[in-house]
Amino acid sequence: MDKLVVHGGSVLKGAINISGSKNASLPILAAAILTGEDCIIRRVPDVSDTNYMIQILSALGADVERSSGTVRITCADITDEAPYELVRRMRASICVMGPLLARKGRAVISLPGGCVIGDRPVDLHLKGMEALGAKVEFEGGNITLTAPNGLVGAEMDLRGDSGPTVLGTDNVMMAATLAEGITVIESAAAEPEVLDLANFLNSLGAKITGAGTRRIVIEGVKELKGVEHTVIPDRIEAGTFMAAAALAGEGVTLNRVNREHLKAITAAIIKSGHSVEFNEAGDSCFIQRGENPQGVDLTTSPYPGYPTDMQAQMTALLATTPGTSVIKDTIFPQRFMHCAELKRMGADIKIDHGTAIVRGVEQLSAAPVMASDLRASAALVLAALRAKGTTEISRVYHIDRGYEHIDEKLLMLGAKVERVRV
Ligand code: UD1
Repeated sequence: MDKLVVHGGSVLKGAINISGSKNASLPILAAAILTGEDCIIRRVPDVSDTNYMIQILSALGADVERSSGTVRITCADITDEAPYELVRRMRASICVMGPLLARKGRAVISLPGGCVIGDRPVDLHLKGMEALGAKVEFEGGNITLTAPNGLVGAEMDLRGDSGPTVLGTDNVMMAATLAEGITVIESAAAEPEVLDLANFLNSLGAKITGAGTRRIVIEGVKELKGVEHTVIPDRIEAGTFMAAAALAGEGVTLNRVNREHLKAITAAIIKSGHSVEFNEAGDSCFIQRGENPQGVDLTTSPYPGYPTDMQAQMTALLATTPGTSVIKDTIFPQRFMHCAELKRMGADIKIDHGTAIVRGVEQLSAAPVMASDLRASAALVLAALRAKGTTEISRVYHIDRGYEHIDEKLLMLGAKVERVRV
């Protein structure tokens, strides 16, 4: 199990490239199940979550080749049962459900695992599949979905108590591409990753309109063909490095970003007193730490709102920003595990009903801390960059789930970070 050792106090400077999006790659890799032809997917980040997805596809019988960021998948002949040992490791494995059901008329999936960020139900995914005519049964921790005569297009509303569901929208959209007739998803998730998946599916021959809005219409087709696709940049990785640059930087450039996708994060960084400038094309940005940082109030909400996946990292930045910040997570109200660890480093944070009240302190101090989930671990790395002394972050496998070579990228920017095998 690796540990990250971060020596605090170094100044970040220079430029790095942002990787392809993990959250776009996962459903796109799963969508290759929908066709028997070759799919070539570029800019797939080399993180453990994409590796798990590739292992799941291989276990289903797909022929998969990976060479640096490019993955070639051929699902000529596949089975319809996703293996528990792999599925349990990653929540996003649920997104093989829609493609398997559409292609095979049957899908058996274990209830997935993933980040420990509260209760993560799949009821909306199942509601969507039932609306398309699938029969859903539970047995021995598995969900079995069957539609022996094929899926049939339907109208549905996928809004849950906390708003739309990203992977639920993805799952239904994938299943509906091969359903008979028209499917309308109301209250769909509008995240850029959903749009990237729809673009991928359309280039396979699907007929999807409205992706990226709250209403998606899918006209079912008989079959899909192979294609090449390049995954969008990872807006959460970009946001994490923006926060790092605001926290401990002296001029950091992030290349291969998408300005449109970063609006809410950029606004939050600027509001907290730092500067973010994009080039004309909007694919590169320069972040400069401000002279007078100030606390901000943030509430997470579905895209185009402030992303829950950037809540922990911003909390780390605000922990040493003068003033009081109030951070509310409406999507995952229990997602504040990083705060207990930040407090061990000297942060002044109170948690109350899905809200963190952060009073900025002048200096954090190093402490041994434990990563609890993917974004929480990133927050601890950020805090450690500015803390006095050497911070040891254990359970780094959490961070390796979603950040491609984070230690190498930080080293390139001048941070003093070591990965230690224990
Ligand atoms: C995706 C992202 C994750 C991000 C989350 C919210 C991927 C691989 N993961 O996860 O990084 O934090 O979106 O932006 O893309 N819900 C239900 N019933 C369901 C499904 C979800 O009630 O069937 C609730 C969840 O508990 C949560 C909210 O809906 O409160 C949003 O979750 P959802 O968008 O589904 O998250 P994921 O798609 O799993």
